[in-house]
Amino acid sequence: MPLRPYIVGNWKMHGTRAMLSEARAIDRAAQRHMKVEVAIAPPSTLIHPVHREAEQIVVGAQDCHDQESGAHTGEISATMLADAGAKFVILGHSERRQGQGEGDALVQAKAEAALAAGLRVILCCGESEKTRDSGSALTYVKKQLKASLPEIPRGAAEKLTVAYEPIWAIGTGKTATPADIGEMHAEIRALLVELFGEEEGAEVRILYGGSVKPENAGEILNVPEVGGALVGGASLTADSFMGIALAAGETEEG
Ligand code: 13P
Repeated sequence: MPLRPYIVGNWKMHGTRAMLSEARAIDRAAQRHMKVEVAIAPPSTLIHPVHREAEQIVVGAQDCHDQESGAHTGEISATMLADAGAKFVILGHSERRQGQGEGDALVQAKAEAALAAGLRVILCCGESEKTRDSGSALTYVKKQLKASLPEIPRGAAEKLTVAYEPIWAIGTGKTATPADIGEMHAEIRALLVELFGEEEGAEVRILYGGSVKPENAGEILNVPEVGGALVGGASLTADSFMGIALAAGETEEG
């Protein structure tokens, strides 16, 4: 049975407690769209408050440390996120790879720590505009993904989601063409099958991210192998975010 479309809001560094009303509105609307799995990753300070109030949506985090505890001032472990109510964590986002200098090995270690703490993982990958223009996007993304993916215990592949987010499409209003998205997602699927086997490799959802809006969501979500969307800016209001969830519910899978 195909998995439900997965629509995840990455609030990035946006949101104080004043945003809890928006989370509540998203939660209420999600109760009317049960064909779609709706989730948000608010800033860490809001994980517990959103978790306490949410009845339908799943709450996650945007990063975690690769150690369970220790002398790491300012850091938060996967165990702590799970304790606060997080069910998943986004790892390897390009804003962390670029802004915090996170390499593939660190992303992989974080993903393994997250799985060990019982969290699901959304692992991000994506190429820069320069790499896309040079014609090596497919090779680049597959290499990045292969080096960042965690070891998965047998039977646990459904705990992993991959998000393909071309860096040049994030927050720019530009999106990859359906043909380019389809080509990349097919390559990612082939890699997952090669690494995890036919059955488990097929269970990993592959999300697209980068300027997804209610207006373009239908077209993107109908591309084969697109199992949902990772949404930044348009996830900050219930209106636009649920517009995307609505489009997901109208896809052939939804
Ligand atoms: P935008 O939807 O704002 O382009 O951000 C995408 C993203 O980075 C989600 O993780």
